[in-house]
Amino acid sequence: MRLTIRDIRKMKDAGEAIPMLTAYDATSARLAEAAGVPMLLVGDSLGMVIQGYETTIPVTLDHIIYHASIVTRVTQTPLVVGDMPFMSYNVSPEQAVSNAGRLMQESGVGAVKLEGGETVAPAIERIVNAGIPVMGHIGLTPQSVNRFGGFRVQGREIVGAQQLLRDAQAVQSAGAFAVVLELVTGPLAQMITEKLDIPTIGIGAGPHCDGQVQVFHDILGLFDGHMPRHAKRYVDAGGTMREAIQQYVKEVQQHAFPTDENSFSMSQDVLDALKEEGVESGGDY
Ligand code: KIV
Repeated sequence: MRLTIRDIRKMKDAGEAIPMLTAYDATSARLAEAAGVPMLLVGDSLGMVIQGYETTIPVTLDHIIYHASIVTRVTQTPLVVGDMPFMSYNVSPEQAVSNAGRLMQESGVGAVKLEGGETVAPAIERIVNAGIPVMGHIGLTPQSVNRFGGFRVQGREIVGAQQLLRDAQAVQSAGAFAVVLELVTGPLAQMITEKLDIPTIGIGAGPHCDGQVQVFHDILGLFDGHMPRHAKRYVDAGGTMREAIQQYVKEVQQHAFPTDENSFSMSQDVLDALKEEGVESGGDY
């Protein structure tokens, strides 16, 4: 049975921490599900870790639908959340609800996520009223990186912190079932978590959020680009994979792979007959 937003809310109410991880394809989704992750995010971070862009800006709704369909098709249990990419919800609440509908209908996700606080609350409300669960995302919102002038921690000053408190409240009042807090100072994230009824999911927001979200490639050491301070590398899978590929290249070059173990035999009679035929027909084989 697939988990729903009610199950996620129950986890907060029971004081059970909520682990969330991004997934973009069959391999990452199956691994995350097998490890017991209850909530998967098909994030627009795929722009960086899958597509090789510098930011999330070039990611389109069709890209998210494509990757989210794979993740929902190969998993049974986790709640799958699909990210609404840049400019897919910013024009009007009507545009937002129409695109959220497409994302849910065409990919099978159980919820959508969009970035912003007070300013996107009307869009969140319209989407929720259409029957589509929404996860909010406040703090450092990567789609607005050009406005922020870089990936900076949010809410260090009084005005910014007050705005984040208002944003969190607005997202909850608009009907979101949870909210991501990205690059928010620990004490402020704790304050928001205590104020809200809905779960907060932190990334670079300290240990007091109700849950944590991380990028698949960051925790596994698969991404060669900038490693953010808020991420923890649990294994250097990229290094291990590189060494394995180097070994493969070496063995092919040295004719050490494949061996008989990796090859398929045939009966000597058939081989002899082929050879015979080859000789009679002028040695074409
Ligand atoms: O796109 C993404 O992966 C995200 C998380 C970092 C929260 O939005």
